[in-house]
Amino acid sequence: MGKLAGKIAVISGSGRGIGRALALKLASEGASVVVNDLDEAPANEVVATIEAAGGKAVACIGNVTAADFGERFIQTAIENFGGLDIIVNNAGYTRDAVIQKQSDEQFQAMLDVHVTAPFRILRAAAEPLRAMSKREASEGREVIRKVVNISSMAGTHGNAGQVNYSSAKAALVGMTKTLSKEWGRFKVCVNCVAFGFIETRLTKAHEDPATKIEIEGRAIQAGVPSNILEALATMVPLGRAGTPEEAAGGAYLFCIPESDYVSGQVLIVGGGLSL
Ligand SMILES: NC(=O)c1ccc[n+]([C@@H]2O[C@H](COP(=O)([O-])OP(=O)(O)OC[C@H]3O[C@@H](n4cnc5c(N)ncnc54)[C@H](O)[C@@H]3O)[C@@H](O)[C@H]2O)c1
Repeated sequence: MGKLAGKIAVISGSGRGIGRALALKLASEGASVVVNDLDEAPANEVVATIEAAGGKAVACIGNVTAADFGERFIQTAIENFGGLDIIVNNAGYTRDAVIQKQSDEQFQAMLDVHVTAPFRILRAAAEPLRAMSKREASEGREVIRKVVNISSMAGTHGNAGQVNYSSAKAALVGMTKTLSKEWGRFKVCVNCVAFGFIETRLTKAHEDPATKIEIEGRAIQAGVPSNILEALATMVPLGRAGTPEEAAGGAYLFCIPESDYVSGQVLIVGGGLSL
């Protein structure tokens, strides 16, 4: 029996990178997982990998910024698996520029994906979470549920060139702290993980073709200039970027029963990086 046997998790942006690693980890501990991604092929690959290992998963393809996505995501868990225990707001990307070169649209795009989308997902979960906790209380039971919001050290400490992204990721910290206060009575722990420098397509050198990503037909240059990458690695006390699995490990800590009395916290997962 895994630590998360019988639990039902939804993880946005879990077709690649850290979200993918977390989906595989939660499933390996017995959770049923709703795998979301903008891109169908990677999401289906994660579902197939979980199923091949004997786990349960279903895909919920789509852009988290769609107005109806939150409801669809939460209902996918309830309709397919009959409940909802863990919500991870992970989907996201970067669109860097210094402030004087940043358009309103570029700034708003980061708020849409990193703030409004998690807000709508959590709002859609509020009534099901309230109803489940009310039923359990009437049965004399307490079931602790979990929300993990994925932020960044750009949000907690700032990062030149990321005024849009860092503003959005900082807002997630406020959302985490407020919901930890609103949802304690529903027995939901709400925490946040802020990653430092994790090796995914978002942090490869600009020259790497993997950093040329597409979000709903729009070409986006993700990644980091190679001179900054070299400097970053030397600033990390552990001397290297983290792997997606190591990053997922930080979020996993908030999902397991051992953290059932931890709420409203921000855990920095950065190999000792303090910026
Ligand atoms: N890699 C890092 O160093 C780092 C550092 C701090 C925070 N983060 C955060 O971690 C999270 C995961 O990033 P990653 O590094 O694994 O990147 P990634 O690009 O490897 O994976 C992110 C996944 O999210 C999906 N996605 C992006 N926008 C989406 C949308 N609008 N709707 C649905 N799916 C969408 C992508 O298709 C992709 O599969 C992001 O929120 C990111 O901001 C990453």
